Amino acid sequence: TWTMINIVDEAVAAVRAQVGTGRLICGLSGGVDSAVAAALVHRAVGDALTCVFVDHGLLRAGEAEQVERDFVATTGVDLVHVKAADRFSAALSGVTDPERKRKIIGREFIRVFEESARELEVRAEAEGATIDFLVQGTLYPDVIESGSPTAAKIKSHHNVGGLPEDLRFDLVEPLRTLFKDEVRRLGEELGLPEEIVWRQPFPGPGLAVRIIGEVTPERLDVVRAADAVIREEIRKAGLDREIWQVFAVLLADVRSVGVQGDERTYGFPIVLRAVTSEDAMTADWARLPYGLLERISNRVVNEVPQVNRVVYDITSKPPGTIEWE
Ligand code: XMP
Repeated sequence: TWTMINIVDEAVAAVRAQVGTGRLICGLSGGVDSAVAAALVHRAVGDALTCVFVDHGLLRAGEAEQVERDFVATTGVDLVHVKAADRFSAALSGVTDPERKRKIIGREFIRVFEESARELEVRAEAEGATIDFLVQGTLYPDVIESGSPTAAKIKSHHNVGGLPEDLRFDLVEPLRTLFKDEVRRLGEELGLPEEIVWRQPFPGPGLAVRIIGEVTPERLDVVRAADAVIREEIRKAGLDREIWQVFAVLLADVRSVGVQGDERTYGFPIVLRAVTSEDAMTADWARLPYGLLERISNRVVNEVPQVNRVVYDITSKPPGTIEWE
């Protein structure tokens, strides 16, 4: 639309005015905000921007590929894809406490990003340049929440503090006057893939907080496979924009008896969680049609061999939270 084109033009002009001939880096999480911020800045400064995608191996099925392939194809962004799944997996080994999981993931994320930023700085120095700016997808509600409009910290996305003293960049926050729906429209205007622009909220610690118990590569595969089936059925039913969040939770320390074919099974339960909400502060469990629940249950049990039972979470927030951890 006309106003969106205006917003793009104005934001592009503002970024150019702020950064001049400086170089920039941007961390991509796979989420909407960082993707739109990066695409916008790329439109303003082209190859002066390098994006770092820290792939912690805790994303949903297909998401890393969407960043690496589709996002790069539509924007032409210079992308460094850091495949750090093994490192996160090792750091999470033996950990079951939800807050410890979050802390470890936040800490590793910063470390990996930092290492990558240092390498890029070395590369820039070899070309007689420096990296001066860090692009962040801070939205207006984040600005209000953090209180201080100049607070130079990594978005609380991963619930961790800022970058260390020797990696001080000036912040470029092209979305800081916008709300989520405006960011999505901006993303569409910039031609980003629908799967990225309309992505549901997803926690920074990813699938790690959707495995109740220790996170292992095998368990990640199980919850990822169940989640993919669930999201596909929700999408086919045309409900993916109506439902605030829908996902699978793996109860990794619970097993129950079942029967499939002529065989007794002893497998894991998957919890189906689907909620409606305006802002995640409160949420209501979604009244999904029985036919859809039936299709999801049948498909998950048939297609994910480790799972033999699907239960539906009918708890609203409060008293429940949206996530299980
Ligand atoms: P809860 O579970 O507290 O979640 O009702 C509210 C919203 O926040 C998301 N969430 C997180 N997002 N890092 C994030 O970036 C986190 O550690 C985290 N924990 C929960 C959750 O998905 C929901 O949208």
